[in-house]
Amino acid sequence: MTNNTIKRGGFSSSFGVLAATLGSAVGLGNIWKFPYLTGANGGAGFLLIYLLATLVIGLPVMIAEIAMGRAAKANPITALQQLCPKKGMPWWLVGAAGMAAAFLILSFYSEVVAWVFAYVFKAIGGSILSSDRHVTEGAFATLIADPMQSLLWQWGVLAFIGGILLMGVTKGIEGIAKKLMPILFLLLLLLCAVSLSLNKASDGLAFLFRPDFSKITAGVILTAMGLAFFKLSLGMGTMMTYGSYFRDDQNIPQTTLRVMAADLCVSMLAGIAIFPAVFTFGFQPAAGPALVFITIPAVFSQIPGGQLLMIAFFVLASVAATGAMLSLMEVPVVILHERLGLSRVKATLTTIAFLMLLGSSCALTNSVLADFKLFGMNMFDLFDFVSSNVLLPLGGILLAVFVGWVWGADKFNQALSNQGKLSNQATTRVVFFLLRYVSPVLILLVMLKGLNLL
Ligand code: PHE
Repeated sequence: MTNNTIKRGGFSSSFGVLAATLGSAVGLGNIWKFPYLTGANGGAGFLLIYLLATLVIGLPVMIAEIAMGRAAKANPITALQQLCPKKGMPWWLVGAAGMAAAFLILSFYSEVVAWVFAYVFKAIGGSILSSDRHVTEGAFATLIADPMQSLLWQWGVLAFIGGILLMGVTKGIEGIAKKLMPILFLLLLLLCAVSLSLNKASDGLAFLFRPDFSKITAGVILTAMGLAFFKLSLGMGTMMTYGSYFRDDQNIPQTTLRVMAADLCVSMLAGIAIFPAVFTFGFQPAAGPALVFITIPAVFSQIPGGQLLMIAFFVLASVAATGAMLSLMEVPVVILHERLGLSRVKATLTTIAFLMLLGSSCALTNSVLADFKLFGMNMFDLFDFVSSNVLLPLGGILLAVFVGWVWGADKFNQALSNQGKLSNQATTRVVFFLLRYVSPVLILLVMLKGLNLL
């Protein structure tokens, strides 16, 4: 069935477009991945490379994806088919690969969201309120080693997000994002204010802002670039899908710039909320993926009013995760809906059912499947590595090449200028140049070097 026969939803207001797109970008990437990767890769040097990757690679690819989505007004597979001038070329495979990436990311992401949701309740109940890191370590280890709890929380998360998606694009995705984004900023500012008032705040800030380039290797650069893709939800059709819900009068480059800046702001604020507290109480910034689940409770337990702050922190993470999960799940849902002609309800239920199966391989990595490894990694780490460091950058290369060499400057220009109504010729030219010559080469070099293939 083609999209012409299905009435498509869309974002209704300009603020709604911004909130939903920002809702997709902001997620556990900011609150969980960004702090632990920055901590593990030496702080400010990593931050600088991540910034560069965001500006030179992320921004143009994001503009490209949104422009393609809006021009085609269809799911990523159909969009690539429609925009390709030569029929029969298999560009639609990039959309299909995007759907595969969505499933891989959702599998481990939904498990981290599951921990976050569980921690909201643990924070309210007070069981993780202890300044002894052995207690907080023990609480986290018990949760992830319990197969039943891990699965049930994950399935609960999938059902919750599926429920919102069933409300549709306008009422569900846009409506929820408009409410959640302001709450997110308020909570974040509150936490930053508290963290900055602690006595070793300056050590934390120095770690975040004073670069030390001795830790930078090709692998670290690949990780920073992978994070840039993951952060802005790029390379897998999410932004193309959201672009297809953009209003025709929306200024794409401007919206993209705002989303990127706000997303960066959330990451920095999350860093400012976390690192001063970590340093003040003598914890290690390089704690890895468990950083926020072990360190945050132990740290906040030593601050007056800590329980409330801890609840605020995990509510904040849940809020951020919800918007990102919605956008991740929307990709397979809209593809199943428009390509296979399933109703939205059936498409959502099918997606959830499949994720319950595939996702359980990640939910059980710390219990039943602890010894099951491929390429030396458990499924959780493997799905994360393959999606962030391989599939998303590869998707980014192919989309940049598609716009730069197949779709072409004229169509791209028309799409970005809202059919000639906006005059941002200079911006368009720069972005097109980057897409055609710079992004694909840069991404490829970083990938090959980072994967030790060069
Ligand atoms: N950008 C989201 C985050 O930072 C994750 C995400 C990746 C969402 C890819 C959609 C697509 O958490």
